[in-house]
Amino acid sequence: MNGWRVVVGADDAGYELKETLRKLLESDARVESVTDLGVDASGTTAYPHIAAEAAGHVADKSADRALLVCGTGLGMAITANKVEGVRAVTAHDAYSVERSVLSNDAQVLALGARVIGPELAKKLVDEWLDLRFDPGSASAAKVALIREIETGASK
Ligand code: RB5
Repeated sequence: MNGWRVVVGADDAGYELKETLRKLLESDARVESVTDLGVDASGTTAYPHIAAEAAGHVADKSADRALLVCGTGLGMAITANKVEGVRAVTAHDAYSVERSVLSNDAQVLALGARVIGPELAKKLVDEWLDLRFDPGSASAAKVALIREIETGASK
């Protein structure tokens, strides 16, 4: 199994936590590559720009996953979900992170730096890297329904 190709991004509210998580990912053997879309320490790019760019990488399959950080994790997930084929969640507990992958095949995890502390965030990301959606699972048909709704095929 190849390592994960992960895109990371944050707005100014998420910058510090994104840096912590980027370093964690860069030192993890399960990760093949980390692409940092910013912002940098002085960056002020609004979260929708970062989230859309990150989701674009997931949609065009140049990345397997995106890890996004803003103040709440909400705006990042809302924006990433506008990109076709992308399933993004905000999750701050282990069970939700687990189900986001195993039930929903979410490729994007958004965290809120004003919601979660760095140690819990690191633990969740560590666990996230071990999770892989099973396309043979009962959840696959439900994820396919999301895609049908997204493409209008269900009408
Ligand atoms: C700050 O712009 C804040 O709104 C942002 O970081 C994020 O929490 C949005 O969802």
